[in-house]
Parts: sequence; C-alpha cells; structure tokens
Amino acid sequence: MKVAVTGATGLFGYALVRVFGERHDVVPLGRAEADITDAYPVRSGLERLLADVGIRSAAIRDLDISDENPAEAFRVNVHGTRNVVGAAQSTGAAVAYISTDAVFDGQRELPYDETDVPIPPTVYGRTKLRGEQITAQLPRYWIFRVSVLFGPGKINMVDKVLEAASYSREYVAPSDQVANATYTLDAAVTIRDVIESGRCGTYHVANQGAVSRSELARRAAEIAGLDTVKVIGMPSAQMGRRAQRPKQSVMLLRALKEGGFALPRPWPEALEAYIRSR
Ligand SMILES: NC(=O)c1ccc[n+]([C@@H]2O[C@H](COP(=O)([O-])OP(=O)(O)OC[C@H]3O[C@@H](n4cnc5c(N)ncnc54)[C@H](OP(=O)(O)O)[C@@H]3O)[C@@H](O)[C@H]2O)c1
Repeated sequence: MKVAVTGATGLFGYALVRVFGERHDVVPLGRAEADITDAYPVRSGLERLLADVGIRSAAIRDLDISDENPAEAFRVNVHGTRNVVGAAQSTGAAVAYISTDAVFDGQRELPYDETDVPIPPTVYGRTKLRGEQITAQLPRYWIFRVSVLFGPGKINMVDKVLEAASYSREYVAPSDQVANATYTLDAAVTIRDVIESGRCGTYHVANQGAVSRSELARRAAEIAGLDTVKVIGMPSAQMGRRAQRPKQSVMLLRALKEGGFALPRPWPEALEAYIRSR
C-alpha cells in the first residue's frame, strides 16, 4: 500500500511514518511539502503520489490556541480536511482522519463509545468534529479518535514531567481531567491493523484504562525513579487556562473489540515501555 501521511513532522505523524514504514510505502508530508490549507499542492501531491490512503494527522491541536484564534483552527482543521478529502475524491484514495476525545463534551460520568453523539464544547472540538463529518462523506474512510498522546519524535507531556522532576522543578497537572492515554507507537500499530483489514468506520484508539493527567504525570516520574513530590495535581479551573477542559472524556474501545482487533496494552505498561525506551 502507498500511504501519504500529513502532519508527518508532528508527534503522531512521527509514529505513523515509522510504523506504516515497516510494511508499506510511506510518503511523509510536512507543511513544507503540502500545506493542507492550500488545495492545489494537496491535490497535485496525492495525484502525483498515487497514494492508496492519505492519513490526515496535521492539525492545530491546542485547545487554547484554537480558542484564541478560531479562524486559524477552522482554516487548518476544517478547510484543510476539505482539501484532503477533495483530493482523495479526485484520486480515489481512502482517508484516515486522526481525531480526538475532545469531540465529546466530557460532562457525563460514563465513558463514551463510538455510537455516542459528540457535542464538542470547545472551538478545537468543533473544528475536529466538522473534519470528521467531511471525511465521512468519502466512500472509504476511517476516523480514529485518540487522546493524550505520548511517544518519541517530539516533546510531549511525559517528557515535560520527567524534565521538571529531574531538575526538582514543580510540574502542575489537572487532577480532575480523566481520559485515556495513548502511546503513539501502540496506536499507530492498531491503526495499521485496522486499515490493512479494509474495515472502514470510526474507531477509538488508546491504551486501555482511564487516568487523570496528574496521575499520569506522577506515574511517569515514579517509573523513571524520580521524586514525585513536586508533581502536583490541581483542579483545572484553578489553572487559568483559556478553553474549557472536559472532566471525563474516557473512550471505550468498542469498535476495536467488536472488530476482533488486538487492543493496545493498558496505559501503565505502555507508559513504562516509552520511558524505558527514551
Ligand atoms: N497530542 C495529543 O495529545 C492529541 C490528542 C488527541 C488528538 N490528537 C490529534 O492527533 C493528531 C496529531 O496531533 P499531534 O500531537 O501529532 O500534533 P502536533 O505534534 O502539533 O503536529 C501537528 C502537525 O500538523 C502540521 N500542520 C499544522 N498546520 C498545517 C498545515 N496548514 N499544513 C500542513 N501541516 C500542518 C504540523 O506541521 P508544523 O510542524 O510545520 O507546524 C505538525 O506536523 C491531530 O489531528 C490532533 O488533533 C492529538
């Protein structure tokens, strides 16, 4: 299979390129090769490459930046998706769209599965949901929702915790935001399994189990053998962030289970594997 990966210079793009590259012909596309907000290079790129699948990982993924600059979030996350989907329509490629737990409002107590109706409360979540809807117009598409990524290739939350703890600096993380954690390499393997199966649709992809941001941070420091005293949990309302944060956005991996796919390992094992590999 020939697979074009947008957002290849990003945290998840790194893992997708590495994992798909083990079995497929991968073309990494950074912003320099294809700015997805510009229809022409995206279309001519996919036509020239004759890609079977375009993985659309590129995004403005910061909730506060999206809230501060909704037009830019819309331009990249919505208009950019329209360009990728338009190019796929003209070349016959399938699209795999990387989405987020932020499409859910995070206000209820129960976890969300793929059949729950998303009602995103933030600009970021709304632009990502619109991107999902545009992607779902294709005859062959996948939507993969991931949450709280960590892995190699780009500084991420786990790296920041470990850096702070190793210098005995304070690291403050929300204690009341519970979600999944996702090791990028594990998620990329699962996404590759699903795409290779040809079974299109919407899938939640994350390591198993729920965890708060502060628990994840504390466990990372513990695994690395660092002092956890300065890893501090704080209610998100006290952290002065601009965009609203979901309290509970845990996703059930129902579609993977029902499809008979191997589930990513539980998050503590994945976190340990990442930290040992650094
Ligand atoms: N990180 C998380 O915890 C998280 C959680 C849930 C869902 N997600 C989703 O996962 C996907 C990947 O996120 P990530 O963490 O890998 O993000 P990231 O590290 O910020 O990478 C985003 C990528 O998008 C590229 N990009 C931005 N604007 C672009 C444009 N106009 N044209 C082409 N490329 C552009 C960036 O290129 P430059 O390097 O040139 O800016 C970068 O390669 C996103 O779709 C995000 O919504 C992430």
